[in-house]
Amino acid sequence: MGLSIVILAAGQGTRMRSDLPKVLQLLAGRPLLAHVLACADDLEADDVCVVYGHGGEAVQAASSAPTLRWALQAEQLGTGHAVQQAMPDTPSENRVLILAGDVPLLAADTLRRLLSETPEADLAVLTVDMDDPTGYGRIVRENGSVNRIVEQKDASPAEQALTEINTGVILAPGEKMKSWLKNLGNDNSQGEYYLTDLIAMAVADDVEVHGIKANSSVEVMGINDKKQLAKAERALQARLVDELMQQGVGFADPSRVDIRGTLHCGKDVFIDINAVFEGDVELGDGTTIESNNLIRSSKLGAGTMVHSNCHIEGATTGNDCEIGPFARLRQGAELADKVKIGNFVEVKKSSIADGSKVNHLTYIGDAEIGSGVNVGAGTITCNYDGVNKHKTEIGDGAFIGSNVNLVAPVKVGKGATIGAGSTISKNVPGDGLTVARARQKDVEGWIRPIKKEKK
Ligand code: UD1
Ligand code: CA
Repeated sequence: MGLSIVILAAGQGTRMRSDLPKVLQLLAGRPLLAHVLACADDLEADDVCVVYGHGGEAVQAASSAPTLRWALQAEQLGTGHAVQQAMPDTPSENRVLILAGDVPLLAADTLRRLLSETPEADLAVLTVDMDDPTGYGRIVRENGSVNRIVEQKDASPAEQALTEINTGVILAPGEKMKSWLKNLGNDNSQGEYYLTDLIAMAVADDVEVHGIKANSSVEVMGINDKKQLAKAERALQARLVDELMQQGVGFADPSRVDIRGTLHCGKDVFIDINAVFEGDVELGDGTTIESNNLIRSSKLGAGTMVHSNCHIEGATTGNDCEIGPFARLRQGAELADKVKIGNFVEVKKSSIADGSKVNHLTYIGDAEIGSGVNVGAGTITCNYDGVNKHKTEIGDGAFIGSNVNLVAPVKVGKGATIGAGSTISKNVPGDGLTVARARQKDVEGWIRPIKKEKK
C-alpha cells in the first residue's frame, strides 16, 4: 500500500496572540511547519498534502517543494473538516497518515514504528502519557483497547483524569477514512468536526484500533502558545547540542548555545557560552568560538579562533585565522590562511590573502588585499562616492600606516608604504614611501584664547 501524508496547518493559533499564523512561528530559526515537512520528507511518502487556511500564501511560501500538494480550508471548522479538504486528491488505495503542523518535534523513526506496527487495514493513533494532560484529547480504553477519544472540553471529570492523550497523529486506510469523514458531525461543545471522532467510528465498523505510544511526551508536544514554543525550543536545542557532543564537539555549557540552522563541525571544535549559529555554518577542525558570538551562514577554516563578541555573516576563512574580539565580518568577506582581523574592524565583500593583518578600528569594503599586508589602525577604504561602490586593491607586502583613507577606485602597489594620516586618491607605486597629508606647521607667537571676565 502506498502512503499519503496530510499535514493540518490551517488554524490561526489564537493562543499565540500573534499576527503570524501559528505554523509560521519560528522554532530553531525555521517555521513550525518546516519541521513537520522535514519529518514527512524523511518518510518518503507518495503524496504529501498541506491543509492551509490562515496566512494563505505566506504559509505556502514556507515550502517550495514542487511535489507538495496544497488544500485550502477556507473556514476552520475543525480537524476532521480540515482532513476532508485534502481527501478529493488523496488516492483511496493509500494509507493516510495525519500529522499536525503544530507538533514539530516528532521524529520520523516514531512514525516508521507506527507504520510498521499497524496492519494495513487497521487504524492507529499515536498516544503518550502526560503528567499534565490538560488541553489534549484523552484516549478512552475499554479492556485495554482504544475505544474513542474525548476532547478536553467534552470530557467528564473521570475522563479528564485520564493521562493517555491523543498526539494528533492518526493513520488509517484511505478508503475507510474517506467514508468515515463523510459521516462526521459537529455536535460537541466546540461545534467542530473532530477528526478524533473517527476512532469511535472505526470501532463501530469492527476495524481494529491501535494506540501506539510515542517515546516521550516532549517529542509529541503540541505548540499552542508562546510558553510551549519556548519549551519546545529548549528541547530541540538540547537535542541538537547532544548530537554535536556525540560527534566530539566541546561546549562550555550545552544549555547556553543556540543553533538555528545546520552546524557542521570538524574535530576538536570548542564553543564557549552564548554562541548563536544561524543558517548553514561550518567550523573546521580545531576551531574555537569564544563567548557571545553570532555566526550566520559562514564557513571557518581549521584552527581558526573567534574571540568574544563578533558578528560574522556570509564570510569564509581559510585556516588559522584570528578574528575579534569585537569584529564584524559581513557578506563576501573572504579571508585566506593566517589572516588577523582585530577589534572594531568591519570587513565587507573583500578578499584578504595569506598572513595579512587588519588589527584595529578599520573599515575594509570592496577591497582585494594581497598577502603579508599590514593595515594600520583607523584605515578606511572609502568605497562609496554617494552613488556607486568602487574597489581598492592593495598589493602583497604593503604597509598602510594608521588613519589612512584610501579613496576608491585606487591601487596600492606591492611593498608600498603609506604614511600615517594620508588620504590616498591616486594609485600608489610599489616599494616606495607615499605620504599625502598637510605638513606640520608650528605657529610662532600664537596665544591661546583667554576666557572673558563676566561683567
Ligand atoms: C487536537 C486534537 C486533540 C489532540 C491535540 C494534540 C482534535 C479535535 N483534537 O487538539 O485530540 O490531543 O490536537 O496536539 O483533533 N487545524 C486545521 N483546521 C481546523 C482546525 C485545526 O487545519 O479547522 C489544524 C491546526 O492548524 C493545528 C492542528 O490542526 O495545526 C491541531 O489543531 P488545534 O486547534 O491546535 O487542536 P487541539 O485543540 O490542540
Ligand atoms: Ca494543538
